[in-house]
Formats: sequence, C-alpha cells, structure tokens
Amino acid sequence: MSRTLFTNIGLLVTNDSRHHASGSRAAERLGLIEDAALVVEGERIIWVGTAHAAEVSGGHDIDAVIDCGGRAMIPGFVDSHSHLVFAGDRAAEFEARMAGVPYTAGGIRSTVTATRGASESELTRLLADRAAELLAQGTTTFETKSGYHLDLLGEPLACQLAKEITDEVTFLGAHVVPSEYGGRGHESVAVLGTREDYLDLVCGPMLEAAAPNARWIDVFCDDGAFTVAEARRVLEAGMRLGLAPRLHAAQLAPNSEAIAMGVQLGCASIDHCTYLTDDDVALLASSSTVVTLLPGVEFSTRSPYPDARRLIDSGVTVAISTDCNPGSSFTSSMALCISLAVREMGMTVPEAIWAATAGGALALRRDDVGAVVVGARADLIELDAPSYVHLAYRPGVPLTRRVWKNGVVAA
Ligand code: NIG
Ligand code: FE
Repeated sequence: MSRTLFTNIGLLVTNDSRHHASGSRAAERLGLIEDAALVVEGERIIWVGTAHAAEVSGGHDIDAVIDCGGRAMIPGFVDSHSHLVFAGDRAAEFEARMAGVPYTAGGIRSTVTATRGASESELTRLLADRAAELLAQGTTTFETKSGYHLDLLGEPLACQLAKEITDEVTFLGAHVVPSEYGGRGHESVAVLGTREDYLDLVCGPMLEAAAPNARWIDVFCDDGAFTVAEARRVLEAGMRLGLAPRLHAAQLAPNSEAIAMGVQLGCASIDHCTYLTDDDVALLASSSTVVTLLPGVEFSTRSPYPDARRLIDSGVTVAISTDCNPGSSFTSSMALCISLAVREMGMTVPEAIWAATAGGALALRRDDVGAVVVGARADLIELDAPSYVHLAYRPGVPLTRRVWKNGVVAA
C-alpha cells in the first residue's frame, strides 16, 4: 500500500486532546499541532506529529509528499443529519416564510408529491449531485434519511438509493402521516386508511423492506407529526429488526416526554432540541445520547436558536449538522452551520469545530471518523486559511482548498 506524507500543515486539528499546541484553553479539546505532518497508508492515518519529528524520524518509507503550504487542516466534517432523497424544492415556501408565514411540518407533503413523481434514475442523479456538493464542502461522512415517499415501495427504495451514497442510512417512514392516511390534505385524495393503519404499515411491511439498507430508525415526534406513544412504537419496531434509534424532537415546541423516551431507548442522538426544559437538559447530560443542533433550521425558518452554551455548560455532548432538506434547511454547508453555531447559539469556535467533526462522529457512534488519529480514516480538509477559526471568522467564504476521503483526493 502506498504511503503519503502530508507536511507543512500550519495548524492541524486532531480532536485528540493529548496534543497541546499553544492556544486558548477553549481549544484544548481540538488537540492542535502547529507545523504538523501526518502519514497516510492506503485509506488510514498511520502517523501524526510535528513536521520536525517526521523529518527526524525519516523512516516512514514515503511514496508521495503533499505540501500543505502552511495552511490549516481539520478532519473531514461529519454531517450526522440530512434528508437528501427528495425531488423538487420549496423556494416559494421559503420566500413566503421570509415574508412572515410561519414554518409548519405540513410543507413536507409538497416534497412527498414531487418525490413520488420522480423516477428512480432522476432520484439517483439528484442524490449523486447532492453527495458531490457535500464532499466539495468538506463533508466526508454523512447520514441521510428516507421520509419523502411515505409509501410501501418508495420508502424502501429511498433507503436503497441512499445506501449507494452512504453507509449511514436512516429509515424515516414516520416523517408525517401522508394525506391518504388522514394527514393534512386528505380532503383532496382518496383515503386508504387511518393514521393507525399508516403506523401499522410503517412498523410492518415498510420497515421490513427498508431495514436491509438502513442502519438507523428515526421518527419526527413533534407538533403536526407523531405523538410520543407513536414514536416509541416506531423506534421499538425498528430496534426489533436491529436498527439503532435516533429521534427528531422538540423542534417546534417543548416535548419533555419525547426527550425522556429517546434517552430511555438509548437514542444515539436526539436532533433539533430547540426547546428544552432544565430537567430535559439534566437528563440529557446524564445520558450517552448526543444532542444534535441544526442551526440551518432556525436560520431558514426564522426561529429562535437553541442555547448551545447552556447545553455544553451542563455537560451535554453537542453535535452540529446541516439537516439538509428542501423545507426547513436547504443548506449543505457545515461551515455555515459552524458560523451560526458560534454567532447565534453561544458556542466557542473550538466547540463548533469539534461538534461538526468529532461530535457528528459520536452522534453516529463512529470511532473511525471525526479525528486525525492513528487508525482513523484519512478524511481531511485542507483549508484555504491559516487556522480553523476562519471557518467562523469568514462566514460564507468557501475555504475548502482540498478534501481527502479514505486517503484519496475527493475534491
Ligand atoms: O428535520 N423536522 C422534520 N423534518 C425535517 C423538515 C423536513 C421538511 O420541512 O421538509 C427537519 O427539519
Ligand atoms: Fe431532519
């Protein structure tokens, strides 16, 4: 296997706190190394240290050298929450929202209509384009969900297509109740059954067909979507088939029962958590469940941002993610989310960088990504900047100079 030395890295974020370059105390968990180098063999990192140490040891048997020109390097972003399997967009809904119309879960159904109308090849092309868009911006690992077909054939198909672009596939047949099962818009469609009938479908044949291509089971437990009892039923059904649970909750209103249920079932992550009580925060802090904050949603729905400072100060593990979807957050930019997390949610810059890399990895229960350590995948971003700080300090500026995924230049 060929070995590549990456050297002349002005500042390396490892997320390994055993490294302590000079820097603020807040940056300690980033495990910074100044004037760094690393060695990649095949798709894995096999050595990390200073450029000086790499030179002195000289014994890495290197086939190629990549000079990073003194620029900063960070682990590839881990975007642990997206909804990429869809057709159409909802620009008009966004435009209306910016003119004062509030966001509701109901908009999901217009994407369902567009997605059901798209062919498999069209969805495949859309997914490939979206995966490329993420990678070009430094996202080397991402999760994505079904949830815009909401029917027996479409939901498993969405998982199958998603599996072609990522290993982190989530079955979200319980996104909302579709119109033909009595959900909003049922007045204008032929009704096939009740809400309970839809849940039977989701927890039965739909789940069985989707499960072979999914790792995770998720449900949208919020106003206008599913109740806590319904959400529990869906998660437990998925868990019986070997899927691991995660949850959308407390996006639109406080929902302590949903938080308690998610923690009790051992969700890897509860996502959104825009509205939390002090008791919810204490419970999350005492658990191994990550809270994934999605600042693109508050931005795009003009909603109050969650208080990340309060969560972190209470000991909750926080990840940040794009939630890329056509309704509540049509951004694929982790860098934008970092800027928003810092500016609007009270996170320090190092906390936001950590949450977008190591935090995302924890939210996906992955130990092979999100850090630059021996044995990890060589997923790396070379920034067009001398420091990771520029990701928040230069909002909106594309700073991804080169991206490697599994040791191969990907963008
Ligand atoms: O995570 N909250 C539920 N689902 C998506 C929104 C989907 C949509 O509006 O299309 C979310 O924000
Ligand atoms: Fe979501």
